[in-house]
Amino acid sequence: MSEEPAGDVVRGERFSGGPARGFLSSLAADERIFRADLQVDRAHAVMLAEQGIVTDAEATEILRGLAAVERAGHADLPDGEDVHSAIETAVIDRVGPVGGKMHTGRSRNDEVATCLRHRLRSDIVETVETVLAFRESLCALAERERETTMPGFTHLQFAQPTTVGHYLLSYESALARDTERLLAAFDRTNRSPLGAAAFAGTTFDIDRDRTAELLGFDSVIENSTDAVSARDFLTETTAALATLATTLSGIAEDLIIFASEGYVELHDDYASTSSIMPQKKNPDSLELVRAVAGDASAGLDGLLTTLKGLPRAYNRDLQRAHGHAFETIDTVTEATTVAAGAVATADWDADVLADEAGEGFSTATGVADLLAAGGLPFRTAHELVARAAEQGADRAAIESAAAESGVDLDEYIEPTALDAALDPDQSVASRDSYGGPAPEAVASALDRATADVADAQAALAARTETLTEGETLLETEVASYV
Ligand code: ARG
Repeated sequence: MSEEPAGDVVRGERFSGGPARGFLSSLAADERIFRADLQVDRAHAVMLAEQGIVTDAEATEILRGLAAVERAGHADLPDGEDVHSAIETAVIDRVGPVGGKMHTGRSRNDEVATCLRHRLRSDIVETVETVLAFRESLCALAERERETTMPGFTHLQFAQPTTVGHYLLSYESALARDTERLLAAFDRTNRSPLGAAAFAGTTFDIDRDRTAELLGFDSVIENSTDAVSARDFLTETTAALATLATTLSGIAEDLIIFASEGYVELHDDYASTSSIMPQKKNPDSLELVRAVAGDASAGLDGLLTTLKGLPRAYNRDLQRAHGHAFETIDTVTEATTVAAGAVATADWDADVLADEAGEGFSTATGVADLLAAGGLPFRTAHELVARAAEQGADRAAIESAAAESGVDLDEYIEPTALDAALDPDQSVASRDSYGGPAPEAVASALDRATADVADAQAALAARTETLTEGETLLETEVASYV
């Protein structure tokens, strides 16, 4: 940034910034909304001409100036308080005082709010694409590992045998809700505050629906004070991202544990080694994914704390709000890509998993269920099997626990059924309730998940289409002037 006094169109001589100049300026961080601001300027200029607020010739000059500023890029902007005033200054530098007509009937307050929404919505699209790719890959892996029996845990203790496919689909389901939340956040982000001016509307006969249309927004935020004040689209999006990051941290944690147990081997691309212990293969990428939940939570906290108690309508605190959302979305999107890659390339060791699947008498619940299905009250069966668990957790232990409890096993179960219940594979296969881990239950869950992913892809495509339509419309309208 140049060291000369600002002289930008907004501050002029009087508010040159003094010692706080750098602190006041958001120009560097505004690079993120440079293109959004140009589009917002274009839409506004086109609308001003259509409404007869500026002449077509004036709009042409402004639009030419904007094109030149875009070609020169953000780095070439003059110093300024922010990207909005810097672009205006640059346009005036290029086309003369007529460039100063660009800001008619609006304020930087509605302008910045519009730019943030314009930019964030495409960032959300990218995140959702990443999540959908992860979900597709989880479906493919779940199909491949549909019959791979593995130990299942609660409290990190061996609990019941399950399958890798069922385990993976559990995360597909969580990511499906993360997708829904992000799409809902997109929809509330994709509304236009433009034309609210400072907060109290304008005397000019502007057309807010038209600028919304030219920018691909779904609708207009009606109340002009709400339009410039509202940042809940940022909190909502960041909350959805923090929730997604929490989902990712869970899958990362599981895989870190599974890798240390030898259940799964991570691809070298997602592992790291030690600078001293040459034999080490550490799950560093997943540890970083796990840690991103902390970044996302910090982003949400930073945002909420900044916004809390702000008076209506615009306060400069807002300049420090959106950075939290943008940083969070970048970090969480990257973590999603890395987590997806680590999961997709991990190698599950079916033999180790099979050996461990029955550990800790994890088939006990199945045995209790079997006795209960034969008519023994479930609570009695539970006590009997608990006793067997202390005595060796095998057929002999069950028989002796039954004798001690005065239960005649033959009255309740077939001898072969007991063997089946004690076998981890058969134990899994028998739990074929809706949503359960039995391979056929997983096969139908997979059908639903696959259809769900396709629906979400279509929902996302419909949204990106609206954005593209806006871009094309604006381009066409601009082309009619320049
Ligand atoms: N740079 C400001 C922001 O990011 C733009 C709006 C400035 N408006 C104002 N009245 N100072 O929030």
